[in-house]
Amino acid sequence: MKAYLGSVFHMTDDPAIVGRDGAHQYFEDGMLLVADGHIIKAGDRAEIEKTLAPNTEILDHSGNLIVPGFIDTHIHFPQVDMIASFGEQLLDWLNKYTFPEEAKFADPAHAADTATFFIDELLRNGTTTALIYGTVHKQSADALFAEAYRRGMRIVAGKALMDRNVPEAVRDTAESGDRDSRELIDKWHGKGRLGYAVTPRFAPACSDDQLTRAGKLLAEYPDLLMHTHLSENAGEIDWVQSLYPTNKDYLDVYDRFGLLGDRSVFAHCVHLEGEEYQRMAEADAAIAFCPTSNLFLGSGLFHLKEAEKYGIKVGLGTDVGAGTSFSLLQTMNEAYKVCSLKGDKLDPFKSFYLATLGGAKVLNMSGKIGNFEAGKEADFLVIDTASTPLMERRLSNSKSLDELLFVLSILGDDRTISHTYVAGDLAHKRG
Ligand code: GUN
Ligand code: ZN
Repeated sequence: MKAYLGSVFHMTDDPAIVGRDGAHQYFEDGMLLVADGHIIKAGDRAEIEKTLAPNTEILDHSGNLIVPGFIDTHIHFPQVDMIASFGEQLLDWLNKYTFPEEAKFADPAHAADTATFFIDELLRNGTTTALIYGTVHKQSADALFAEAYRRGMRIVAGKALMDRNVPEAVRDTAESGDRDSRELIDKWHGKGRLGYAVTPRFAPACSDDQLTRAGKLLAEYPDLLMHTHLSENAGEIDWVQSLYPTNKDYLDVYDRFGLLGDRSVFAHCVHLEGEEYQRMAEADAAIAFCPTSNLFLGSGLFHLKEAEKYGIKVGLGTDVGAGTSFSLLQTMNEAYKVCSLKGDKLDPFKSFYLATLGGAKVLNMSGKIGNFEAGKEADFLVIDTASTPLMERRLSNSKSLDELLFVLSILGDDRTISHTYVAGDLAHKRG
């Protein structure tokens, strides 16, 4: 048994639905009690202290904030070496920078080396769970799973399915994509904390045969996720319309192949229209909101309030390498600005909800991760509220929890994460 001292904060519900007060718990002089990699209790220090067994190890993070590990609902592991590539919107960016970079992952040594860097970077930024794209190559997902397994992390990943309209070096076939996915599922799905996502790159890169097989695979294994891109960019949407002229809209293409359901996670959804929101909600499908990416590629502004109105599950995605940071705090910062341009104020409690419990709901894992409910897995962070001179100065002038959370969400980044714990074990310590 270990007891962590600090200010303990977590979200228990969506503040946009139940209001701020009913959606969080905050124990300013708090304690988080952990045993066997799971949460025993979060609460007031004075209260929990009385109940501690004499052999309990106390770890003192007082003066800092203890929060659940962040959940990144959309990121590309093979894009770390071409993040911050200049000048293009989505389709040209894919052809000019992304596909050539991804071609390098045919080499298992390159995949293994990148996987180590990638997982280190997640942990440095306080991300303990992510939904991750590999390349088309089976060995890319293999390397990523091996590394996440070694660190005891809960991740969901898949090899990308892409059998048309892409260069040969990053193309599979409907048959090989299906076979490789099945081999990866047999090897990794359910091993430790790992899960598999059937991962069609996006409709324009997948033949009907490939999408049909993806739908069958999803139906065959009831606990796989489905992970793809939807309605990110105007040129992409026009392309889908020309490929599928008889379909109602972009979402309908995925729906027709059995890829719209309560295990589906769609990245972006910047340009959804009324009926698409409705059908996403009815299917209980989820959206990964990727503000740094949508701004960087000039894709457009996601309408969070509209998704909220329909009751659609939403989480935050960094979408590295179209996204510009691994940090979910930086992603909250850009999310705030996107919402502002849509005429809305993004409540800082909602930002932390999106990055924790909301993300867990997107991945259908809110029974396991996302907050400090007793019995959940002990993935948590120690946040240094004086991580930069500016943050320290600004927060010495702050008077409330919501101001603290807002300042963290605007000024915070990797420097703000002083410790990352995965399943109760220290996985990263700053410096
Ligand atoms: N759509 C298809 N592939 C990609 C990708 O790698 N990144 C983004 N942002 N959108 C995509
Ligand atoms: Zn993406």
